[in-house]
Amino acid sequence: MSIYLDNAATSYPKPDCVLEAMRRYFEDIGANSGRSAHKLAQEASRLVFETREGIAKLVGAKDSSRIIFTLNATDGLNTAILGSLKEGDGVITTSMEHNSVMRPLRFLEEESGIKVDVIKCSKEGVLEPDDIKKKITQNTRLIIATAASNVVGTIMPIRDIGRIARKHNIPFLVDAAQTVGSFPINVEEIDMIAFSGHKGLLGPQGTGCLYIKEGIKLTPLKFGGTGSRSEFEIQPDFLPDKYESGTPNLIGIAGLGASVKFILEKGVENIRRKEEKLTEYLLQKLKEIKKVIIYGTQDSRKQTSVVSINIKNMESSDVGDILDRDYDIGVRCGLHCAPIAHKTIGTFPSGTVRISSGYFNTEADIDYLSRAIRKIAQ
Ligand SMILES: Cc1ncc(COP(=O)(O)O)c(C=O)c1O
Repeated sequence: MSIYLDNAATSYPKPDCVLEAMRRYFEDIGANSGRSAHKLAQEASRLVFETREGIAKLVGAKDSSRIIFTLNATDGLNTAILGSLKEGDGVITTSMEHNSVMRPLRFLEEESGIKVDVIKCSKEGVLEPDDIKKKITQNTRLIIATAASNVVGTIMPIRDIGRIARKHNIPFLVDAAQTVGSFPINVEEIDMIAFSGHKGLLGPQGTGCLYIKEGIKLTPLKFGGTGSRSEFEIQPDFLPDKYESGTPNLIGIAGLGASVKFILEKGVENIRRKEEKLTEYLLQKLKEIKKVIIYGTQDSRKQTSVVSINIKNMESSDVGDILDRDYDIGVRCGLHCAPIAHKTIGTFPSGTVRISSGYFNTEADIDYLSRAIRKIAQ
C-alpha cells in the first residue's frame, strides 16, 4: 500500500478528467493558441479561454482577462513583488511566509534598499491584524500575506488585513498557494492573488495564476511574443497579454481547465468540509500518541489540512525516512521552503514532519499513518 500525504507540495493523484483533457489536447489539438487562425489554433485558443473563465468563476473574478497564467505560485508572486516595488519602498509581510515571498523581498532589500517589515506571528502561526496597522508608514507600498501557512496550516485573517490595506490605500498581495481549491476566495476584495494550479486546484505541474485587480500597475518581468499587436515592437498594455509572453503551457492549461471544472462540480465548500473532517480525525489520532508534538492551532476549523509534528528525541528527516522505507507513506520533512515560519513556531533548523492530506485521502489512510507513527514513537 502506498499512501501519499504530501498534497501541500503538490496534489496526487489528479482526477481522471485531468489526464483525459491533457491526452485530448496532445492527440486532437496540439496547436498554439492566440496566434494562427486555423481550426486547431482556434480550438487551442478556446481551451485557454475556457480555463481562464473557469478560474475566474472559482475565485470570484468578474473579468477573466485579469487572470494571468503563470508557471506556478512562485512565478506569480515574483511578478507581483518585483513588478510593483522600487527603490526606497516599504513592504509589510508576516513571519509565516514561504521563500517564494521572502526571497524576492530579501533580493530587493539587498539590491534596491526596499524596507521589509516582518510582523511576528504567535507560536501557532496566528497573526494579529492590528500589528500590521502599527507598521504602516507613508512609504508602505505593498502588504503581503499568505492565506494559510504551508508549515502548520494556520489560516490567516486575510479579510481583516485586506480591510486595513484598503483603508490606507496600499495594494494587498495574497499568496493563496495553500488555500485555492479548498477555501472560498473572493478576489475582488484583494488587489493581487497568486496561486498554484498543481496543489488544491488538482491540476498539472507547471501551472499557476496571478490575479491583478483593475488599477494595479505592474512592470512585466518578461517581454515578447503574445500573438497580439504584432505590428508593434513594444509590449501590449492590455491584460492578459501584457504579462503572458511566449507560448503558454497549453497541455498544462488543458489539464487545469478540467481540474477546475471538477472542483466547481464538487463545490469548494464541500471539498473544505471533507478536508476539515479528515484533518480533525488526523489531529485526534495524533493527540493519542505519546511523544508526538503537534504544532500549530491543533484545531481543524482554524487550519488547512496541513499538520506538522515531531516525535520527541527524533530528527524529522529520520521519521520521514522510516515512514517512506518501512511503511510506504510519503510526507515532507525539514523546513518546507519556509525557514521564517519554522523560526516562528520554534522548529528551526531541524524542521518538522509535515503531513498534508488531500481530496482523495481517506480515514483508512490516516489509520495506517497513525499506526506507523505510534510504532516509530515506541
Ligand atoms: C505558501 C506557499 N507559497 C508559495 C509556494 C510555491 O508554490 P509553487 O511551487 O507553485 O511555486 C508554496 C509551495 O509549496 C507554498 O506552500
